[in-house]
Order: sequence, then C-alpha cells, then structure tokens
Amino acid sequence: MKEDFPILKENVIYLDSAATSQKPLCVINKMSEYYKKSNANPHRGAYDLSVKSTSIYDNAHEVVKEFINARSSKEIIFTKNATESLNLIAYSYGLDNLNEGDEVVLSIMEHHSDLVPWQIICKKKKAVLKYMYVNENYEIDDSEFDKITSKTKIVGITHVSNVTGTINDVKKIINLAHKVNAKVVVDASQSIPHMKIDVQDLACDFLVFSAHKMYGPMGIGVLYGQEELLSKMNPFLMGGDMIEYVYEQDTTFAPLSQKFEAGTQNVEGAYGLVEAINYINKIGYDKIQKHEKELLKYAREKLEKLTFIDLYYPKNISNHTSVISFNIKNVHPHDVATLLDRAHIAVRSGNHCAQPLLRKLNIDSTVRISFSIYNDKNDIDVLVNELNKIYEMFKKFNKE
Ligand SMILES: Cc1ncc(COP(=O)(O)O)c(C=O)c1O
Repeated sequence: MKEDFPILKENVIYLDSAATSQKPLCVINKMSEYYKKSNANPHRGAYDLSVKSTSIYDNAHEVVKEFINARSSKEIIFTKNATESLNLIAYSYGLDNLNEGDEVVLSIMEHHSDLVPWQIICKKKKAVLKYMYVNENYEIDDSEFDKITSKTKIVGITHVSNVTGTINDVKKIINLAHKVNAKVVVDASQSIPHMKIDVQDLACDFLVFSAHKMYGPMGIGVLYGQEELLSKMNPFLMGGDMIEYVYEQDTTFAPLSQKFEAGTQNVEGAYGLVEAINYINKIGYDKIQKHEKELLKYAREKLEKLTFIDLYYPKNISNHTSVISFNIKNVHPHDVATLLDRAHIAVRSGNHCAQPLLRKLNIDSTVRISFSIYNDKNDIDVLVNELNKIYEMFKKFNKE
C-alpha cells in the first residue's frame, strides 16, 4: 500500500497514524480536481459552478451516511474535526438537557476533546462528572459500568483509546446507558480507520470522527446524531447558510444538516473525505484488519522481547488495535522520539491529549507508535533496531 502514498516515497517510516494518517494520491488528486473544475460557494449561486459545488457537498453527506449506515443523510453533520463535533454535542445537547445533580459518565481514556467540554458544561449546569477507570490491563472492568445509574444523562466513551489501543465494548455500554435513558456519545476517531462502524447496529445516539485520521483531509470532521435528537437541538454556530428566515429580533433555522453547518463549508474536504471512503471501501475493512492485526501481533512479539521497555496495552490482542505506547526505562520519551526522528522514524511522544488517563497510570508521557495499512514488518524491524541502539547509548550515559 506504500505505493499509494506519495509522502512515503520520502525517506520516512511513518508510525504516527493515530495523530493523522497519510493521504493516498487519489485523495490528493480529488481535492486538487475540485479547485480546478468545481470551485464555487455551495448553496449560494444559481450558476453551474455553484450547483456543482453544492451537489459535491450534499452528495458527501449521502456517502458518509452509507459508510456508517445512518438512517438518513440528515443525521450527518460536517464539522471541522472530531473536537468540534464533540463540542457541538456538549454545547447544543448538554447545555440544554443537563440539570443540577445530573451525572455525566466518561471513561478515563477519553481524549481531552471529549473530556474538557463536559467539564465546562457540568460546571455550568452543576452536574456531576464521573469516570469509569481502567484496570492494570488497560481495560474497563464491567464493575465500572455500575457508575451508569438512573442519575446518568450522558455517557461519553471512546471506541478505541489513542494511548493504549484498547478496544472498548461500546455496544455493552450503550445497552446499559439506554436502560437508564442516558444518551451515549461514541468517539470513533481511533476506530474508524481500522474497523467498520455501523451506527444502527451500535445504536449510539451520537458518534464522531475526523477525516484526517482515515486517509482523508484535515479540516473536516463528522458528527452523526440520531435525527430525533438533532432536530430538537439548538444550533452551535450561527450565521449564513444555517437559517431559514431572519427578522430583526428573531430567526428560524434551516432543516438538518444545514442547521449545524453555518458559514461557507469545506467542500474540497468533503470531496476528499468521499474519496478516502472510496479508497477504504476498495480495499475493504476485512483486508485492512487482517493486515493491521498481523502487524500488531508482530510488533507486540518484537517489543515484548525488549526487556528495557515498559509497554502499556491490553494482554488480549483481540481487545487491542494499531496503537502501542511504551517507554524505555530511565529515558525520556521526547529523547526517544527525537533520536528515532534522526533515523527517519516518525513517532509521537507526550501525553497524547489524555492527561487524566496517564495520571491514573502513574506516567507523565509515553512514546507512541501507531500503524496503518501502509506499514509493514520492515518498519517494525527498523524501529526495534533503533530502540536497541538508543537503549545502549543511554546505558553508557547512565553509567558515566
Ligand atoms: C480518541 C480521539 N478523539 C478525538 C481526537 C481529536 O481529533 P481532532 O484533533 O481531529 O479533532 C483525537 C485526536 O487525536 C483522538 O485520538
């Protein structure tokens, strides 16, 4: 698959796909084609180019609807990214539906973008924020689900942790939450590049992801919400394109999805996202998963042989996908990442926008590698070889 990604022809082993994936040439070409052939402001012109741009943008809602099996394209809202989608839910749903004493239950694995907005909304509404914690195996024990009670109004759960790669049993959590009439927000940012998402099968109320983590462009994200909920929610951003009639003192709003898509939209991004979806569909999730699982197994085996590193992922590989966090004992992760960069290996180091999780695990930061379809076993071999060198180098320093 490396062939499809022009950037990988540069001298780089890219192991940071959880931050953003690389883009295949077909996606890059599609976006450039938009500007060459179809650029105009959508929904605003009667002329041919504007009609073209409008139909590209509207069709993208249809394609995403099919991709995640939503009931209607009205349930698909384009945003800037997963972060904006999560803020939209917190502000447009949370603010109007939470009351004093209500509870919001999140997993401690949530990315800051599914955590900070709820902190703010809970403070504003005097609601209580609770967490489901992870065990020593980086998984959430069923006993933690007891935190979902009749007081719970919202549950926020990441499908896959961007730190430990743990796959959460979101279906089980959704079932439990619905028994007490709580709404569930699923953060699929780290799962959708790797596994088929079916919102009707999950029966989630909201689901979010960013195009840029699934071979698509930056600057476009998706919010899926059940039509019944979205239609009752107030808009998040106000301005052009999201209105029906505006009077001096009052406004009526456009129907879904436009109600939540204020201002000139990212049409080339939507076009690129459609091409990314076509790309995934052409390969097929079965093939993606087979390749990535094999690579994960290989990486786990190789890394587990390195006695000088601590690894942070679930023991059971069936609950784990494509993200591996680790530390070389007594070496700061930023040093590891910098030295790997000198060997042209791109990895992430830091707290991965998940400080509460890292605090719970008693670590400040980790090195994180993450895979995609364009990685292969050679990438892992080169990485392991470099890690050995880094360890030997620091061993010498530490002795001196
Ligand atoms: C699990 C998870 N949720 C949300 C986000 C936020 O995505 P974005 O920065 O595209 O808004 C990320 C990004 O790393 C993530 O890993």
